[in-house]
Amino acid sequence: MPRVSKAFFLCAVVYGICGMGLGMYMGASENHTLMPVHAHVNLLGWVGLAIMGGFYALVGERAPTKLAWANFALSNIGVLLIGPFLGVLLLTGNKAVIPFLGVGELATVIGMLLFATAIIRTAPKAANLVLN
Ligand code: HEM
Ligand code: HEM
Repeated sequence: MPRVSKAFFLCAVVYGICGMGLGMYMGASENHTLMPVHAHVNLLGWVGLAIMGGFYALVGERAPTKLAWANFALSNIGVLLIGPFLGVLLLTGNKAVIPFLGVGELATVIGMLLFATAIIRTAPKAANLVLN
């Protein structure tokens, strides 16, 4: 498995544990204020990163390495900014954190666009392998 896939999976698991921990706290306390944080840390962090790691593992050495690491960095920055700053916004209503959320959203979207580019750049090579 490529190192980048391992990195994606390890981070995904950490986000999954944090998201589930928050879900358990929400259930136990019956305080669902942080539900959007729970949802997005689990979905962008655990599910999103695991899907990306799975793709890079499937295509192996055919993956564009630098693009994959840039995808990894931006997708992580996205979760790391959106999770905590969304939490602060929901708990305190402090609108000063909104620019940080904006940067997190931008990083998330650019990370996804890099993932799309990696898929497109890998597809012809994968097709060649099948045809050969
Ligand atoms: C130990 C694991 C988990 C626990 C204890 C847990 C707990 C909860 C709780 C208490 C809520 C609030 C429900 C409500 O207010 O109606 C919730 C909502 C939600 N959870 Fe989890 N959760 C867990 C794992 C996950 C995972 C792995 C995902 C995604 C992959 C996820 C996605 C969501 C989403 C999207 C919502 C919002 C649902 C809505 O909009 O009504 N949860 N969860
Ligand atoms: C940059 C990326 C994203 C942004 C900016 C974003 C933004 C939002 C916003 C503003 C809401 C409404 C929250 C509320 O009503 O309190 C929401 C809800 C939701 N989003 Fe996202 N989202 C993003 C990515 C995703 C992804 C990738 C998924 C699924 C894979 C997802 C699943 C959901 C779900 C299930 C809800 C309803 C649960 C909730 O209210 O927390 N989102 N999102």
